[in-house]
Amino acid sequence: MVTERIYIDRNNIDKKLLERAGKVIREGGLVAFPTETVYGLGGDALNRDSSAKIYSAKGRPSDNPLIVHICRYEDIHVIASDISDMAVKLAEALWPGPMTMIFNRKSIVPKETTGGLDTVAVRMPGDDVALGFIRAAGNFIAAPSANSSGRPSPTSADRVIEDLGGRIDMVIDAGRSDIGLESTIIDMTSDVPMILRPGFITGETVERICGRVAYDPAVFGSENKGVRPRAPGMRYRHYAPKGELTVISGERDRVRSYIIERTAECRSNNVRTGVMIAEDDDEWVERYKSTSDLVINIGSALDEDKIAANLYEALREFDDREIEEIYSEEFNTKRLGQAIMNRLLKAAGHKVVRL
Ligand code: TXA
Ligand code: MG
Repeated sequence: MVTERIYIDRNNIDKKLLERAGKVIREGGLVAFPTETVYGLGGDALNRDSSAKIYSAKGRPSDNPLIVHICRYEDIHVIASDISDMAVKLAEALWPGPMTMIFNRKSIVPKETTGGLDTVAVRMPGDDVALGFIRAAGNFIAAPSANSSGRPSPTSADRVIEDLGGRIDMVIDAGRSDIGLESTIIDMTSDVPMILRPGFITGETVERICGRVAYDPAVFGSENKGVRPRAPGMRYRHYAPKGELTVISGERDRVRSYIIERTAECRSNNVRTGVMIAEDDDEWVERYKSTSDLVINIGSALDEDKIAANLYEALREFDDREIEEIYSEEFNTKRLGQAIMNRLLKAAGHKVVRL
């Protein structure tokens, strides 16, 4: 199969092109498309064969449910039931946007889409290209992130093609995704909204709107070993580069001398290393370069939006350069720190050196 790539200008959206993409979906094909979080791999959410195709294109385990993307609030009632007042409030405040809510599933949604579950995840993305595409495709798009299973999510069409080129019908290219981390997932099936996957929408925001919030303990990662995450997808090793990634945690000077020591040792053994930091200036980029093959400064420690936006692309750049061992400093930022560290620790398979 040849994957067709179409270009859409966000400032002047070509509806005819989106119509063509929509037709591919209506005929049972797969189209990768941009969202404000990451690129998604879309198929018709109400067609069991399309969902089956998504799993096979990604190499994804079929018990890991897909998110159904909608383009109008009222469509929530077509696919989900028992929608609480709190859920309506959240939708009104945060949709379209980087939030996914989980509800009881209506039978119109095939079990293939929900990985066999009786619940369904719903999201209305905050990206006009995505919304136009969903509308053109018939209003219900099932979409996981458009990466091969286990790899970092793609934030550009190039990265989608790298993983899925030749396996899907089309990619809509509208440039880089703004946010760079997948949506916040909130389980709305019990009385208190529960965060299953942290993201750009924080628990504080949910609490402000609903008065209450709970967290799946697995969100906090390695501190809770043995806790089974409620979102099936959070149970797998995920977001991982091919090189061995280790997070180095602790007091800054010690972290830095440890990384210098380790990378120097690797170099003397002909092992290619990479280092990831978040710094205002490039002083430490230069220092690390003396012992390491690729040093990536993913953005000022004060600009957490930028760290989030660059994280997955950086992990993929280490792969481009065939880095075998990657050392990352910890990014303890205020608002998005939880989401960023959740992804980084998963990418590292929870390999952390605490100094
Ligand atoms: O930002 C996003 O959410 C992106 C864009 C494309 O919208 N999508 C995305 O999809 O990240 P995916 O498939 O990579 O991650 C979906 C996560 C998985 O961890 C999955 O297990 C969980 O959502 N999930 C989906 N339906 C669920 C359900 N009914 N109950 C619990 N977890 C669910
Ligand atoms: Mg994913």
